[in-house]
Amino acid sequence: MKKIIAIVTLLFAVAVVSAQSIETPIIPRPMEATAVKGSYTLSAKSVIAVADAELVRPAELFAEYVAKDLGATLTVKQQNKGAVVLSLDKSLAKEEYALHISSKGVKVVGSTAQGVYYGLQSLRQLVAAGEVTKKGIELQGMDIKDKPLLGHRGAMLDVCRHFFTVAEVKRFIDIAAMHKINAFHWHLTEDQGWRIEIKKYPELIKIGSMRKETVIGRNSISKTYDGTPHGGYYTQEEIKDIVKYAAERYIEVIPEIDMPGHMVAALASYNHLGCRDEKFEVRTRWGISKDVLCVGKESTFEFVEGVLEEVVKLFPSKYIHLGGDECPRDRWKECPHCQKRIQEEGLKDENELQSYFMHRVEKFLAKHDRKIIGWDEIIYGGINKSATIMLWNDRNRAKAISLGNDVILTPKYFCYMDYYQTLRPFCNKEGLLFRDNRILTLRKAYSLDPYEGLQPSEYGRIKGVQANLWTEYISTFHRVQEKLLPRLAATAEAGWTIGAKNFEDFARRLEHLRKLYEKECIHYAPYFFDGVDEK
Ligand code: ACM
Ligand code: ZN
Repeated sequence: MKKIIAIVTLLFAVAVVSAQSIETPIIPRPMEATAVKGSYTLSAKSVIAVADAELVRPAELFAEYVAKDLGATLTVKQQNKGAVVLSLDKSLAKEEYALHISSKGVKVVGSTAQGVYYGLQSLRQLVAAGEVTKKGIELQGMDIKDKPLLGHRGAMLDVCRHFFTVAEVKRFIDIAAMHKINAFHWHLTEDQGWRIEIKKYPELIKIGSMRKETVIGRNSISKTYDGTPHGGYYTQEEIKDIVKYAAERYIEVIPEIDMPGHMVAALASYNHLGCRDEKFEVRTRWGISKDVLCVGKESTFEFVEGVLEEVVKLFPSKYIHLGGDECPRDRWKECPHCQKRIQEEGLKDENELQSYFMHRVEKFLAKHDRKIIGWDEIIYGGINKSATIMLWNDRNRAKAISLGNDVILTPKYFCYMDYYQTLRPFCNKEGLLFRDNRILTLRKAYSLDPYEGLQPSEYGRIKGVQANLWTEYISTFHRVQEKLLPRLAATAEAGWTIGAKNFEDFARRLEHLRKLYEKECIHYAPYFFDGVDEK
């Protein structure tokens, strides 16, 4: 008997040794990576074999991603044999994948094309970090089993404070996809510019998409303007094109039509939407406007529904983001229409008036089979269980979690990518921002723990994490990239990686990702790599 136990123990030990965990260059860190004997060399002649027609597109994208490394765009064939074989296995979870490299070749398996695509994004990073030989790129044998911690891994771009072209938005999506982000939150409407074509309301584009000038320097003190009109918008055809482009990269585009605050561009286009009978102009300063949608008038709901009817046709996403943030009550307090609404509906105050508005719009969207996301201020006057809270203010965290609603975390001191990246931004010439104390180093971004302070029973409420890029002080796409990277890599790992995290290990892997950024001509902030103020 003892002998048998000894043999079993020995076999077990051998199994453990042969499944030795290894380090990879991959970000976000995979759940499990173990060594496999041997290696495989990918070359310009390698064929990608796809067992299923739906895997052709991810295979073609991968072929594009590694074309520079291999000196050719690999051929994709619908067959069973090849250097890289892609296949489906329905027993895996939706976004899960397995990647196997041995002397026989490379296999990527997922239960969906999305899972396979993530396996290929990992493989892309392995190729970029692989050893260049005369024959091609040598990949060490390994077995990776991987799946994400959270279902929503988002990146938000504000295209209103500054407009970015279709090509730039697609590039943003490419960068997000590289980090296994699966949601692009597109902030499309603002006080300073309306960016989505709505056919029923043409003035939104004619008037609302252009501001006559922009404040120069720090908003809180500056009295000077640049005198240059700034604007732009996306036609419905362009939007469809972007949604398709994102879908091919397994990214859902979630549009945000921010209401009832942050609506000055709409008020400028259709003056009757405001509480006061006055003219508005598209805002030329940053910050928060007291002019918001009038919630007393029925015509406001007619407008909002007209806009959303077109929005739901353009965006197949399960969620529509309704904003709900930073909505001052000043105008509502003085408006006879809003006060009448409060009385007639038996509402307690203006907080409940905002909730009345959000609930009514939510009900309208439910008819279109859509759910809403709102910034955490939507909890003030009460919310429905069906609403997802996007949490950015620490002060609302405990209450938001206690409600039991779905929550997407984007706490500003961890996830706001417009914040400074170094402790001494002025020495490091980081450019302007709202306030000097808004600093988000790479290390801090990495330290985001989605479950911090929660009971295990509450973990399920956290549906995702998201990096947000507000663009008041970011007017070029070069700066967008510099702000986003490398910090997006940290947020991506917070949302994806299961198990303990380690910043030093992340930093080691980031050296590889940095080289990939360079190969792809993606800009990133140099500070962390230069050892600047990163504590
Ligand atoms: C926000 O930062 N106003 C959501
Ligand atoms: Zn009003």
